Amino acid sequence: MTKKSFSFCLTLLLALCFGLSELAAAAEITIGFLVKQPEEQWFQLEWKFADMAGKDFGFDVLKIGTPDGEKVLSAIDNLGANGAKGFVICTPDVNLGPAIVSRAQANNLKLLAVDDRFTGPDGKDIESVHYLGISARKIGQEVGRTLYEQAKAKGWDIKEVGFCAVTFDELPTINDRTEGAIEKAVELGFPANQVYRAPIQGRMEIPTALDAVNVLLTQHPEIKYWLIAGGNDSCVLGGVRAMEGRGIPAANAVGVGINGTDCIPELEKSNPTSFYGSILLSAREHGYKTAEMLYKWIKDGVEPPLDSRTAGTLITRDTFRKILKDEGITD
Ligand code: GLA
Repeated sequence: MTKKSFSFCLTLLLALCFGLSELAAAAEITIGFLVKQPEEQWFQLEWKFADMAGKDFGFDVLKIGTPDGEKVLSAIDNLGANGAKGFVICTPDVNLGPAIVSRAQANNLKLLAVDDRFTGPDGKDIESVHYLGISARKIGQEVGRTLYEQAKAKGWDIKEVGFCAVTFDELPTINDRTEGAIEKAVELGFPANQVYRAPIQGRMEIPTALDAVNVLLTQHPEIKYWLIAGGNDSCVLGGVRAMEGRGIPAANAVGVGINGTDCIPELEKSNPTSFYGSILLSAREHGYKTAEMLYKWIKDGVEPPLDSRTAGTLITRDTFRKILKDEGITD
């Protein structure tokens, strides 16, 4: 071997070794992604996009469904024991915040809250925990505006319309959404005394929302037309199903959800129901961006912003196919 080709081989070898060790180092980082309701399409999509970030940057994502406090705490211990460096979490209960923070510290894990912001013992947001969520009040107001405009467009006599807000006040981001919807409808001219709240008992799911709205409908059989708002798609879908169960025609109610990810089969139905549309949130940002921020914090020490908020876009039966495709939600 000539001197020249020897040094070429050496360079090649070094480059290869360096390249491989870089790769190995990158793949060494594992993060957890814990969600409260893994069965909800919204959270499935957050996981999907977090995985995409993992592929793009070369880290592993452990996806764990944690529907209660016990599961959250044991998942954090397992992450610590298995050498993970941090986790993103949508907690099943915002009041678990302080316990989650101390368990993460005990396991030396970095932590980023997504969707549902931690609440402290004083009832206020824990602002020291990094958080990415939606601009809840503003998005709620978009729901309120859309509902009011629909009532007008349908030519309903506002005196005959009830505003049904499916509420879940223990979760601040949801309370902000439903109160934002009510606030905007009233600001536009909807009578405040025709607003009715249907509080969900238990978790936010279609059946619990259906039960809540059924109670309301029993109390108000006199109302002819309904507008339906709620904290997410499942809350509004429960309301829509309750109205159907009472024989209220689809044309006499309008529902607008939030998420835009849990109502796709509803919008695809060939016979339109009273579910008019939804404010589509960015599952990509909530899944991809949070995972990316956490990874860069762990790897390069780049601390994420303490409070990031994302926006939403209205989708309806007419527009959802194209918008969901452009967002990478559907193929
Ligand atoms: C809450 C809701 C979810 C979704 C997210 C968005 O966690 O339960 O359905 O709306 O907020 O941030």
